[in-house]
Amino acid sequence: MEKKRFYITTPIYYPSDKLHIGHTYCTVATDAMARYKRLTGCDVMFLTGTDEHGQKIEDKAREAGVTPQQFVDNIVTGPRGILDLWKLMNISNDRFIRTTDDYHVSAIQKIFKKMYDKGDIYKGKYVGKYCKPCESFWTESQLVDGKCPDCGREVQDAEEEAYFFRLSKYADKIQHLLEDTDFLEPRSRVNEMVNNFIKPGLEDLCVSRTSFTWGVPVDFDPGHVVYVWVDALFNYTTALGLYNDKYDDYDKFWPADVHFVGKEIVRFHSIIWPAMLMSMDMPLPKKVFGHGWLLLDGGKMSKSKGNVVDPYILAEMFGVDALRFFLLRTFPFGSDGNFSNEALIQTINVDLANDLGNLLSRTVSMVGKYFGGTLPVDQSEDAEKDGELVGMTSALRGRYEEQMEHFAFQNALAEIFKVIDRANKYIDENAPWVLAKNMETTGPRLARVMYNLLETLRVCAILLTPFIPQSAAEVLRQIGADAACSDWDSAGKWGALPGTVTVQRGNNLFPRIDAEKALKELEEAAAAAKKAALPDLEVEPQLEEKVDFDTFCKSDFRAVKVKDCQPVKKSDKLLRFVLDDGTGVDRQILSGIAKWYKPEDLIGKTLMAIVNLPPRKMMGQESNGMLISAVHTEKGEEALNLLILDDKIPAGAKMC
Ligand code: MSP
Repeated sequence: MEKKRFYITTPIYYPSDKLHIGHTYCTVATDAMARYKRLTGCDVMFLTGTDEHGQKIEDKAREAGVTPQQFVDNIVTGPRGILDLWKLMNISNDRFIRTTDDYHVSAIQKIFKKMYDKGDIYKGKYVGKYCKPCESFWTESQLVDGKCPDCGREVQDAEEEAYFFRLSKYADKIQHLLEDTDFLEPRSRVNEMVNNFIKPGLEDLCVSRTSFTWGVPVDFDPGHVVYVWVDALFNYTTALGLYNDKYDDYDKFWPADVHFVGKEIVRFHSIIWPAMLMSMDMPLPKKVFGHGWLLLDGGKMSKSKGNVVDPYILAEMFGVDALRFFLLRTFPFGSDGNFSNEALIQTINVDLANDLGNLLSRTVSMVGKYFGGTLPVDQSEDAEKDGELVGMTSALRGRYEEQMEHFAFQNALAEIFKVIDRANKYIDENAPWVLAKNMETTGPRLARVMYNLLETLRVCAILLTPFIPQSAAEVLRQIGADAACSDWDSAGKWGALPGTVTVQRGNNLFPRIDAEKALKELEEAAAAAKKAALPDLEVEPQLEEKVDFDTFCKSDFRAVKVKDCQPVKKSDKLLRFVLDDGTGVDRQILSGIAKWYKPEDLIGKTLMAIVNLPPRKMMGQESNGMLISAVHTEKGEEALNLLILDDKIPAGAKMC
């Protein structure tokens, strides 16, 4: 029988910065769904990729002094880049598209031309507002308090000759699609789209730009590049082979079963995308699911706000599976959720270490201890005592499936953990250590108790595979489940594990985390990462305000020779200098440079001082003037360097 097909996508990510845990959330969720569908026997296509064009990338590349292509290559394929991150997170995508790939670029040109030839794209003049970080055009009426309605940032005036897509023509059809079908989920997002965008009147969409060049060129009108969202949205089809020879899966996999997208890009996926597909006479995707955001301290994570969480640090510290699990166990997929390191550690300790990890290690070690690792044939059931656990485990696949089919990852995991909890209680109720005291009479009962526990672990591990693939495989290995009893069919059957199974002891899957120690390490790692992200060297910007020459000449700068230099008692910062300033009378200056110099190293040096400042008291001592230093910032820390002059310069020489 031909396998059922399932095509699922993540948004394609902007390689304008390294990705954070919010991006990882969406990709891990998509991966769990793709793995679940493969588990159930579907022929799955899982696509992700990168959205590499647009003004933001062009600007960032210029700032970095590289070409836009070099800039995106570094973030996509460079060390700790996007591809490395997906490998680390064990993402099982079947395909990865980059919108700078040649096949995609030429396909977009054909698609643009097709909509133009149809009359759905026409030339006009764009006057409006543009949000650079979001690459979005807005009309005045769509702004919120004069700012971008998506990200709340300042928008710019924009006016240029441009091509427009007749979005208005499709307004009724889109409203019907949203209101009368299950195209967009969760349902709450439908009202938002209809009330905020469709009811106020859908305006035609500006789909080309002339003010920058980093994009797909409109081949029939040089100077125009295709609006980055048109370029980006069609990735879902060019990656299957639409208008190109690179792939040949369009007929097999289009329309997509579901696009997973973050809530701020639901507008593009549920209004603009179906309208363009209607224009192209192409089938619409079956569903768009708008998931919530991972928040940090109540706000959206973003590099520009400086509040991002680095998935590399977390995965390296706690393990990839633990991080994947946390993301899908803790937050309902359709709503926002607050990320915190404390919650992450708690989830690992409670669910993984305590509940699942303990159930596995207790069961496997008891089978080893009481039966030498292999269960005997002679086993004795107790319907009354076993009924609830057997019933719950047997019904688990159905309950889980119901949740997974609605993308309710959190609920699906909750169903599994109800069974794991029940199994842990079952151990206490049946007290295997008591049964083991008299193996001759209660040995068969003990064997059955152990079998029931292994069977429960088997079903749970199979269903956990989409979430924690490596650990679930290790559970199955340790309980002695071979491939024949580790598949979807067998997850729905009680008793698939052979009665005389042999277990294999292994490492503790999820060691308990010392929360205090881990939180401290995370803080240190975050501080180090923040420091590493700072510019190596920074100097203060130059002052705009001009001073006239006479004012400048009023400052009396002189060469001074250091006769003595000592630390100032009770001060970490100050050094006390005794200086020859050429007047024959010693001058005392206190300077806050103790952090950078040893006093003895400065004796005999010729420095520069301003000598006509009014005297100032510091730590009870008088300072007459100020030594001149160069100041800059190195990796976020201030650095001071005294201006040390040539020894030939006599004390008292005026600087001008
Ligand atoms: N390039 C567009 C998508 C084009 S799809 C045809 C884009 N890229 S993005 O890199 O800015 O975001 C990619 C996805 O990451 C979006 O779905 C966005 O919602 C998601 N997330 C970014 N930050 C997030 C959180 N803090 N939490 C959850 N998801 C977040 O948009």
